[in-house]
Amino acid sequence: MSASSASSASGAPFRPVPGARGGVITGWGTALPDKVVANDDLADQLGTTDAWIRERTGIAERRVGGTTAGLAAEAGQHALERAGLDASAIDLVLLATTTPDMQVPASASEVQRLLGTSGGAVDLNAACSGFVYSLVTAHGFLAMGAERILVVGSETLSRIVDWDDRNTAILFADGAGAVVLEATDGPGQLRGWDLGSDGSLRHLLYAEIGDTMKMDGREIFRRAVRITVESAIRALERSGLGVDDIDVVVPHQANIRILTAACERLGIDPAKALTVLQTTGNTSAASIPLALADGLDRGRVHPGDNVLLVGFGAGMSWASAVLQWQSPPR
Ligand code: UT7
Repeated sequence: MSASSASSASGAPFRPVPGARGGVITGWGTALPDKVVANDDLADQLGTTDAWIRERTGIAERRVGGTTAGLAAEAGQHALERAGLDASAIDLVLLATTTPDMQVPASASEVQRLLGTSGGAVDLNAACSGFVYSLVTAHGFLAMGAERILVVGSETLSRIVDWDDRNTAILFADGAGAVVLEATDGPGQLRGWDLGSDGSLRHLLYAEIGDTMKMDGREIFRRAVRITVESAIRALERSGLGVDDIDVVVPHQANIRILTAACERLGIDPAKALTVLQTTGNTSAASIPLALADGLDRGRVHPGDNVLLVGFGAGMSWASAVLQWQSPPR
């Protein structure tokens, strides 16, 4: 892809600012509601089958329940413990969510209260791209002097799913994933990124305030593969890396066929992709931190690995980030 087509498709080509402080992920954590909804639990009501859902999406079961702030705080607490930090050390809570608990105030305010963090707290809504948008945004705050930021993706999509719509009810679910990002002298982990939006595609996936989600699944599928590939290539170009340099991919957990097709088109072995959607379903902004944390806990990510995070979703929006994984300093 040429530089001109990359910038016209996704705005100005951001580049790391020479000398700016970077960040290192020093902790991670997750939270899932207790209630498990298996495919079979949905089959009769929706006129579908466990076999169809597994084959067409890769999903076997999902978790349902809780509140966006409650799940976020639980995941955040685990991330703080892993980082060895007290909540009071956090300068900012950035909560990526498309399902806030209330219209006012931001759910991040409740996360701040539950955890007792210092400094600011704010929600960021970029649908399923929200966690990567927030991670990139957090690096901007580090460059401006913040020391420690809690970045969370948390969703309770079950509250805006139409449980009679087999198009969406089989996919979406609840959960949260969080990371602690700490400032470091030098470039840190983030090597390149790409953020984008095409608001002319909002009709493909939306929920009016107070209403349930409506989705053109087939069209989202078609565009998601293309967007994932193009955004990943832009982030890689900006990081000075090629597809062969990527050790681990953390894709948005929407559909196993989307992420496999995107990896194949990129020329990256799909076995390098971390997946949790089999047991979580699509948790929108929580899906990438859930997959990342699971991969870290399973020893799938090593110091020095180049890790490609790539999300897409309603908007349509997209966001990619290339991290060179570092051992936490402690
Ligand atoms: O976070 C990002 C948001 N969303 C997405 O990433 C969604 C992307 N899209 C998808 O994952 C897929 O399009 C779906 C899983 C939603 C649907 O799978 P598909 O393979 O694209 O199915 P389709 O819509 O092309 O429908 C194929 C057939 C249709 O029947 P006919 O017309 O061929 O007779 C549908 O009526 O499958 C039928 N169908 C189902 N059958 C059983 C659609 N949904 C179901 C279902 N169970 N749940």
